Amino acid sequence: MSFRPQPATPARPNRCQLFGPGSRPELFAKMAASAADVVNLDLEDSVAPADKAQARTNIIRAISEVDWGRKTLSVRINGLDTPFWYRDVVDLLEQAGDRLDQIMIPKVGCAADVYAVDALVSSIEAAMGRRPISFEVIIESAAGISHVEEIAASSPRLQAMSLGAADFAASMGMQTTGIGGTQENYYMVRDGVRHWSDPWHWAQAAIVAACRTHGVLPVDGPFGDFSDDEGFRAQARRSATLGMVGKWAIHPKQVALANEVFTPSDAAINEAREILTAMEMAKAAGQGATVYKGRLVDIASMRQAEVIVRQAEIISGC
Ligand code: COA
Ligand code: MG
Repeated sequence: MSFRPQPATPARPNRCQLFGPGSRPELFAKMAASAADVVNLDLEDSVAPADKAQARTNIIRAISEVDWGRKTLSVRINGLDTPFWYRDVVDLLEQAGDRLDQIMIPKVGCAADVYAVDALVSSIEAAMGRRPISFEVIIESAAGISHVEEIAASSPRLQAMSLGAADFAASMGMQTTGIGGTQENYYMVRDGVRHWSDPWHWAQAAIVAACRTHGVLPVDGPFGDFSDDEGFRAQARRSATLGMVGKWAIHPKQVALANEVFTPSDAAINEAREILTAMEMAKAAGQGATVYKGRLVDIASMRQAEVIVRQAEIISGC
């Protein structure tokens, strides 16, 4: 490690974030009853401009009236380039009950975007005597990915950062209308056979590195084709392998898939514990490395195993 230690991420499960439009209040109780760790009530792009005011009213009422259990309850506000966002923040912070945990800021392009929301939120919290809320952001633009590290460092309120594939693709000028997953024209050819690659990989890796540097949870965003379970699983498994802790669900059938992928399997947990035991025995014998199932394990392997055990403990504590 550097002399500057790597901060821990928030110790709460974030395997699945289930979204629903604020203009469809009939979905709220179903979202609360789902197995998602996080519920995101949306005021942004799933709500038509004419419905924004009603959606705010619906969400403010539901925050107090619906039993959200132990979920992290988050509301996605409108972007800072709209005439809606300040009213979202003011009404939510002045009128919604203390059950609101977090607000999600979309299309963040630089640290100052988060600073602006932080200033407004801090002022209203002080005036109202509210419990502090946390932030999550979406990286979904060329500016956002270019400034990802300063955004990850932008506020002590920041708990999570997601990649928003659709807006990201649009901002980057990518030739696709797909929301996440395999893209038809992103392939290499060897011996005449096509091999598909992952156009989201580099942005995900940049987000994971920025998040891990600053103690923020890295999250994979939406997978639009909710009839393609295997496509969702494949995308989510790649994200988990890269270090992301969860993924959005834009339809309730994706919740179980995300939970399945982002919950370490019993086999993975057992193996991690066995590696820790093997290394404890090696250390007791004065060795920094040993052999486990025919392969090298050393002190770095302990840190890898501890990631899996910690994730399992956070999830089982929920
Ligand atoms: N959360 C909880 N329950 C939901 C839901 C959601 N987001 N979306 C649908 N359901 C419920 C339906 O009410 C229905 O319940 P029922 O069996 O009790 O009747 C069931 O799940 C099946 O729904 P279905 O008919 O397949 O979906 P739909 O046509 O009503 O809605 C979407 C499909 C994609 C429009 C809807 O899921 C949705 O709005 N998703 C979120 C979009 C969003 O928030 N986008 C912003 C982030 S990218
Ligand atoms: Mg978006």
